[in-house]
Amino acid sequence: MPEWLSNAVFYQIYPQSFKDSNEDGIGDINGIIEKLDYINSLGCNALWINPCFESPFKDGGYDVKDYKKVDPRYGSNTDLYRLFGEAHNRGIHVLLDLVPGHTSEEHPWFKESRKAQKNKYTNRYIWTDSCFHGADHMPFVAGESQRDGCYILNFFKCQPALNYGFLHPTEKWQLPMDHPDCIATREALKDVMRFWLDHGCDGFRVDMAHSLVKGDDENKSGTVSIWREVREMLDKDYPEAVIISEWSNPPQAVAAGFHSDFCLHMEGNGYSTLFRDYQNHTETDRKAGGIDRSFFKKDGHGDITRFLADYLPWYEKVNGKGYMSLTTGNHDTERMSYTLSQDELKIAYAFILTMPGVPFLYYGDEIGLKYQELANKEGGYNRTGSRTPMQWTEEKNKGFSDGCEDTLYLPVDLSPDAPTVEKQAKTQGSLLNTVKDLITLRHEKKDLQADGSFEVVYAEKEKFPFIYKRGNLIIAVNPSEEQAGIPNDVKNRKILYAIGKTEIYHHEGKMPPQSFLILE
Ligand code: NOJ
Repeated sequence: MPEWLSNAVFYQIYPQSFKDSNEDGIGDINGIIEKLDYINSLGCNALWINPCFESPFKDGGYDVKDYKKVDPRYGSNTDLYRLFGEAHNRGIHVLLDLVPGHTSEEHPWFKESRKAQKNKYTNRYIWTDSCFHGADHMPFVAGESQRDGCYILNFFKCQPALNYGFLHPTEKWQLPMDHPDCIATREALKDVMRFWLDHGCDGFRVDMAHSLVKGDDENKSGTVSIWREVREMLDKDYPEAVIISEWSNPPQAVAAGFHSDFCLHMEGNGYSTLFRDYQNHTETDRKAGGIDRSFFKKDGHGDITRFLADYLPWYEKVNGKGYMSLTTGNHDTERMSYTLSQDELKIAYAFILTMPGVPFLYYGDEIGLKYQELANKEGGYNRTGSRTPMQWTEEKNKGFSDGCEDTLYLPVDLSPDAPTVEKQAKTQGSLLNTVKDLITLRHEKKDLQADGSFEVVYAEKEKFPFIYKRGNLIIAVNPSEEQAGIPNDVKNRKILYAIGKTEIYHHEGKMPPQSFLILE
């Protein structure tokens, strides 16, 4: 395990929306370089940058056309190499986004693969043997190529699935994993990884990491074996490199060799009950005041045990072998600020930043950038509203771009209370300053870092506070708008850090409404 991970706090950057350095309205690599000092000042010491490779952008860049080339709208490969160097000078590691399961339909491999004549790339993607025979249980496209066959999709229509083989082939057109052409796909993946690692990147966030080998396989043993091979390569040749998976099954992902796996928002799962449990209600329902059962909503309808039911068994299985990553959000989910106020966010982030594993902060979440209801942009659909430009200052385009307003990748928030870094940096107790304080504390206290032990002290359905232990520290979380009692054995500890008024803790041994305590 690379040691740097144990104290890593990641900052996720959606490059088109972070900082535009050349006035074309789209964020770019040089813009990221300009803001490295800001990222450093937050205390974040690692970056994940969403795909910045050549792409037709039918899925925000997750439709890669050339894995080894930075898309011109972001700059050049040289700019990215410079970013690696500048980040390293500040002690910041950089992960790129690896999309191993599919390419764009415009990738040269796919252009060759769809040809009727056999060639080196004929089996690089998964094709059935007739355009009239689709594939059971897998999405496919028929009738679009000179080649007679249907091709399997991994996600959108623009993303044909790469062929890593089938664990148990059941049809003639399904190749076994050890077929030379499937091995060639695997080698091509490793080649892409080597290319960026050799140029100074520190690893990858891996898109849909679970999706490589097709066919029946509940335990994902085929896909797991491929990643184990990748991990062997890393351990041998790039021992400081890190891979973090979008798998959402930490025990499986860690067994596959990933250093950490994301706990992701999936409707109804444990993670989503913390921040986004309004999903069972329709939009109208929610606006009409439908009950929000998110744990961090102050109304107090939340239940931490629903999160723990998923999290604790996972924690037990991965502890000591790998990590889990809790995130404030990402480019695929509505920002928490959609339903949580700035005060609610403070407590939610305090929880995320004091849990074990490797936390991720999505750009803009540190100021509570709002989710905007926007039309689909580049395959974002309802995700588009979480991908709007970062808001730096009170000036033109909120400091994101000096270009014309109508060229902006997406609009900035023009409401009078739109959050900006400039405003919040000056305000004591702002969300931004709270995030900074919490990250500083995490760096100071080993107990709060990835490997510090974790134990639940008090967690009960619809009761507050939720109390847990990290090493020798006790952490108490009361997101509700009611006061909450603290058990006697915890009461007499000294406060190391607090959100909310602490007097009542000292006088009555209670937690004030909407408060958070770290006790020594
Ligand atoms: C997950 C990515 O996070 C998402 O943005 C993308 O659309 C799909 N994978 C397909 O690559």
